[in-house]
Amino acid sequence: MTNYLVTGGAGFIGSNLVDELIKRGYNVITIDNFDDYYSEDYKLKNLNPKAKLYKGDITNYEFLKVVFDENKIDGVFHLAAKAGVRASVEKPGEYFNANVVGTANLLKLCSERKIKVVFASSSSVYGEVEYIPTDENHPKNPISPYALSKLHAEQLCEFYMNQYDFPVAWTRFYTVYGPRGRPDMAIAKFTKAVLKGEPIEIYGNGEQLRDFTYVSDIVQGLTKVMQLGARGCFNLGTSQKVSVNDLVKYIEEIANRKANVIYTDKKEGDVSRTMADITKARELVGYNPEYTIQSGIKEYMSWFVKNSD
Ligand code: NAD
Ligand code: UGA
Repeated sequence: MTNYLVTGGAGFIGSNLVDELIKRGYNVITIDNFDDYYSEDYKLKNLNPKAKLYKGDITNYEFLKVVFDENKIDGVFHLAAKAGVRASVEKPGEYFNANVVGTANLLKLCSERKIKVVFASSSSVYGEVEYIPTDENHPKNPISPYALSKLHAEQLCEFYMNQYDFPVAWTRFYTVYGPRGRPDMAIAKFTKAVLKGEPIEIYGNGEQLRDFTYVSDIVQGLTKVMQLGARGCFNLGTSQKVSVNDLVKYIEEIANRKANVIYTDKKEGDVSRTMADITKARELVGYNPEYTIQSGIKEYMSWFVKNSD
């Protein structure tokens, strides 16, 4: 029986991954500290009861060691992190602690036991990009503390992989959305606002571009990377570019309602455009994203309608 550890397993992407792993018949162990970035109740709903939960903090090495000593672990999906780009500008220390110190603790334990690791990094490590689609070799120029913390965590991944010779992959996700989507992110906020007749706030002129990626495509990519024991860096996006203004139009069309849009100042830490070159993940691990922005919003909206009060 294969045992996977998912850190951040009560979070948005982590909980979708845990559900899929359990569906495929794996044993799943999760670690989550139920960080208060968004409410505990919200995350409790995410937790699959078939997963074995350790409630605790990845910055606590002794706690982590107990998890590794008590379980035979075959692979670690490391998703636990403070994840808000704009929020990190206010609390850089918290972001570095969770994202860098926590990752170092995990990598040490995995390197000693030669346990495969797949780490959740971010498209934000590239910063303001010189070209799109952006491949993995593009220079890294983070413009938020969050993005810099992810770049440091990637460097730790590379260091441990080379120093101790075991499989470590760091995958760069592109603005993920879908069921149980984080309530601070654009698609979750805008969908809720349009359906409830509340205003939408667009930061800047709305012409910023994002490669929005449906969560099941990310889960597909993560499981493929893990199963192959792939090493190194992989972009996981859709390879499409959608402006925030167009995103609102798609949500309006699918909901068949008009949005009430308010434009406010651009936020510090926000990059102007992201769009992944996914050739490497396609060729080396068979990653094949299935959702366009329209089909993804449709699916997300029907989940939201069924699951909102
Ligand atoms: P999320 O906030 O829903 O999930 C993160 C989980 O980690 C939460 O449940 C939180 O309680 C937990 N956590 C935070 N700090 C912890 C700590 N110190 N110890 C233990 N648990 C801790 O966010 P998400 O959107 O699901 O993101 C998951 C991962 O993917 C993160 O690493 C994030 O940086 C990365 N990522 C997300 C996106 C996206 O668009 N959502 C894009 C790129 C990368
Ligand atoms: C997302 C995730 O939140 C990060 O965890 C992740 O690392 C990053 O993607 C990534 O790709 O690596 P972001 O692209 O900022 O970050 O995602 P959203 O919060 O959905 O924002 C998308 C765009 O909509 C941004 O330009 C943002 O400024 C804009 N937005 C968001 C608004 O105009 N209004 C809002 O209320 C929210």
